[in-house]
Amino acid sequence: MSDHELRVSKIRNGTVIDHIAAGQALNVLAILGIDADSGETVSVGMRVPSDRLGSKDIVKVEGRELSQDEVDVISLIAPAASINIVREFDVVEKHRVERPDVVTGVLSCPNRHCITTGDEPVDSRFDVLDDGIRCQYCETIVREGIANHIDVD
Ligand code: CTP
Ligand code: ZN
Repeated sequence: MSDHELRVSKIRNGTVIDHIAAGQALNVLAILGIDADSGETVSVGMRVPSDRLGSKDIVKVEGRELSQDEVDVISLIAPAASINIVREFDVVEKHRVERPDVVTGVLSCPNRHCITTGDEPVDSRFDVLDDGIRCQYCETIVREGIANHIDVD
C-alpha cells in the first residue's frame, strides 16, 4: 500500500493486531477490555482490503503489550491474526497467533451455576476443542458465538 493510501497511521510504541478476520475487530477490543472509557489510544480498521485475506480488520493499541491469555482468546475468533510489537516505530517482534489447548480468564462460562461464575474468585478455564471450548469445571461446551462470552467487567 503506498503512502497516500495509508488508512490507519503508524504507531510509535504498542501492539498492532493485524490480519484479523473481517468483522472481528470489535470483539478483539472487547477481549482487550477496551471501550470508550478505558482511556487508551486505539486505531481500528474494519474491512480493509488485504492481499492475503481479501478483506481484514486491524487494531492498533498504543503503549501496551498483550497478555498471553488475551492472545489465546484472540486466536479463537481470529485464527490468522498476527501480533506485531512496535517500539520506536519499528516492528521488533511479529508472530502468528496459535490455537492453544486451554484458555484461562477472559471468557466466562455460560452456566450460571458454574463455580467460575459465582462470587468465588475462581478463574475460568476452558479446554479448546476442534469446534469450540469446554469449561473445565462444569463441562459446558460453547460451540457458536464464543465472542458473546467475553468477560466484560
Ligand atoms: N505498523 C504500525 N506502526 C508501525 C509499524 C508497523 O502500525 N510503527 C503496522 C503496519 O501498518 C502493518 C503491521 O504493523 O499493518 C505490520 O507491519 P510490517 O511488518 O511493517 O508490515 P508487513 O510486512 O506488511 O506485515 P505482514 O508481513 O505481517 O503482512
Ligand atoms: Zn462452567
